[in-house]
Amino acid sequence: MPEGSMGISNIATCTAPVNIAVIKYWGKRNEELILPINSSLSVTLHQDQLKTTTTIATSRSFQEDRIWLNGKEEDINHPRLQSCLREIRRLARKRRSDGDPGLDSTGLSHKVHICSVNNFPTAAGLASSAAGFACLVHTLARVFGIEAELSAIARQGSGSACRSMYGGFVQWIMGHQDDGKDSLAQQVEPETHWPELRILVLVASAERKPIGSTSGMHTSVETSCLLKHRAEAVVPVRMDGMIEAVQRKDFPAFAELTMKDSNQFHATCLDTYPPIFYLNNVSHQIINLVHQYNNYYGETRVAYTFDAGPNAVIFTLQEHVSEFIQVVRHFFPPETNDGQFIKGLPVNCAPLSEEL
Ligand code: ADP
Ligand code: DP6
Ligand code: CO
Repeated sequence: MPEGSMGISNIATCTAPVNIAVIKYWGKRNEELILPINSSLSVTLHQDQLKTTTTIATSRSFQEDRIWLNGKEEDINHPRLQSCLREIRRLARKRRSDGDPGLDSTGLSHKVHICSVNNFPTAAGLASSAAGFACLVHTLARVFGIEAELSAIARQGSGSACRSMYGGFVQWIMGHQDDGKDSLAQQVEPETHWPELRILVLVASAERKPIGSTSGMHTSVETSCLLKHRAEAVVPVRMDGMIEAVQRKDFPAFAELTMKDSNQFHATCLDTYPPIFYLNNVSHQIINLVHQYNNYYGETRVAYTFDAGPNAVIFTLQEHVSEFIQVVRHFFPPETNDGQFIKGLPVNCAPLSEEL
C-alpha cells in the first residue's frame, strides 16, 4: 500500500469469532507459554453474532506500539500482548532473512497501532479473550504478510484463543513438549459438518466477572485436587467420547458430555480455595429448566454449558429451537429480568461459523 498522509505503511482490518468449549480448558502447566493441563474441545460461533473486529496500522511516524480496546487505551506492555507481537515480528524477520523481497514495504521496523472492538460483553464469560487474541494475531499476520499456522501464537495471548483460529469443531491438543510447539489447535470437523446444530446465548449478566479466567484457574491449580483428578483421569476419556459424538452427530451423547463437563468445571471452581462462584441463581434455574425439559420429552433435546461466568450457552437442534425459546420466555419473561434474556435470544441463534 502506498504511504498516505499519516505515513501509514500498512493497515488491515479482520474479524474473529468466539468459541465455546464443550470440554473445558481450566488450568495451566506453564503460565508464561500458556500450556494447559488438559486438552479441550469447542464449537466456533457464527461471526454474524458475537465477534471481535480489529484494525492494525503500521507507520514510520508512530513513536511506540499502542492498543485501544473498546475505545479505551490499554497497557501495551501486558506480557501476553508482548508475546503475540514478539512472535509475529520474529516470523516476519525470518521471512525477510529467508529472502522475501516484498517485505520492506510492510514496515517491519515500524510501530503498530491496534484498535479492537468486541460487539458483546468483555470479560463476562462469553470468551472475549478468545475472539480478541485470535483476531489480534490474525490481523498482525495480515499486516506483516505472514502465512503460517498461528494457533500456537494465539495461544500465548489467551489459551482459548487458539481454538478461535478455526471454524467448526476444534480441539486444542495439550501437547507434551516443554517449549509448547506441540500445543496446537486442530479442526475436528468443519462448520458445514452439523448444520442442524444451533446455539443460543442466554445473557444472565453482562457485567465483568469478579475473578478473571487467568487468576481463577491459577488458584484452582494451586488448591483443587478435584481439578488434578479431572485433568488426569476424566478429560482424556471425555475428549475421545466427544470427538466420536461430534463425528457421528449424536446429539444426546454430545449434549450429555457437554453438560457433565460444564458441571465438573464449576465443581472444580467450588473445590478451589477460596471457592469461586461463576454461576448465579439464574444460571441454576436454567440448568434445572433444561433437565426438566429433557425429562418431559424423555430424551435429551437441549444442553447447557457455562464458561467462567453466569451466561448460558444452549445447544439444541434446529427442530427444537422455537419451542425452547418459548419455554425460556415463559419462565423468564422480559419484564422480570430487564429484558436480558430476550436481548440474548433471538439474535444469537447461530449456525456454525466460517473459518477466519
Ligand atoms: P472472557 O470470559 O470474556 O474471555 P477473560 O477473563 O478470559 O474473560 O479475559 C478478558 C480479558 O481479555 C480482557 O480483560 C482483555 O484483557 C482481554 N481481551 C478481551 N477482548 C479483547 C480484544 N478484543 N483484544 C485484546 N484483548 C482482549
Ligand atoms: C472457562 O482462555 O480465558 O472459558 O488462557 O488465562 O487467557 P487464559 O484463560 P482463558 O480460559 C478459558 C476458560 C473457559 C474454558 C474454555 O474456554 O475452554
Ligand atoms: Co477468556
